[in-house]
Amino acid sequence: MRLGILGSGSGSNMQAILDAIADGSLDAEIAIVLSDNPDAYILERARKAGIPTGLIDCRGFKTKYPLEVQAETAAALLKAEVDLVCLAGFMRLVKSPLMAVFPGRIINIHPSLLPAFPGLHAWKQALEQGVSESGCTVHYVDAGIDTGPIILQAKVPVLPDDTAESLHERIQVEEHRLYPEAIRIVASRL
Ligand code: GRF
Repeated sequence: MRLGILGSGSGSNMQAILDAIADGSLDAEIAIVLSDNPDAYILERARKAGIPTGLIDCRGFKTKYPLEVQAETAAALLKAEVDLVCLAGFMRLVKSPLMAVFPGRIINIHPSLLPAFPGLHAWKQALEQGVSESGCTVHYVDAGIDTGPIILQAKVPVLPDDTAESLHERIQVEEHRLYPEAIRIVASRL
């Protein structure tokens, strides 16, 4: 199974997927890594691993993901013969030009127990709400924000002395275990 990974940041989840492939626990290949941020460390990690990379040129828009750019992304993924698109810290909203090309084949990882705390800084939202438990979710991407069908979740306790950073760090440990496992599940359904 050929994976296309879209990310905007550090790429630790991409690394976890790569590690799972390397240790034989995930039967897949990362065909391409695309980022909307030329300085994102995810691109550096991919280059170091010899994985083809590409830039998503959002024409100077900070958060918008123009539809024609989404069509370009779809074309790049198709050219790389991608079977499954994995969003890993990708900060733009995927819409129909991309979704129509990969129906039921785009998944995302989110740092909360969805449907709780969709959107940005979910771990901060959890802390501010005073919940005793948060976690992470891998889900199919649909037209909403972090609303698609859930594939897998992992719980993480919120500790009394947690800061936003310490909670996010512990959630990420679970993310790195969860994402490769969720990809295995999705692959078995394709
Ligand atoms: C993760 O916490 C993920 O849940 C969220 O963005 C973060 C990406 O981290 N969507 P990384 O770039 O994989 O290190």
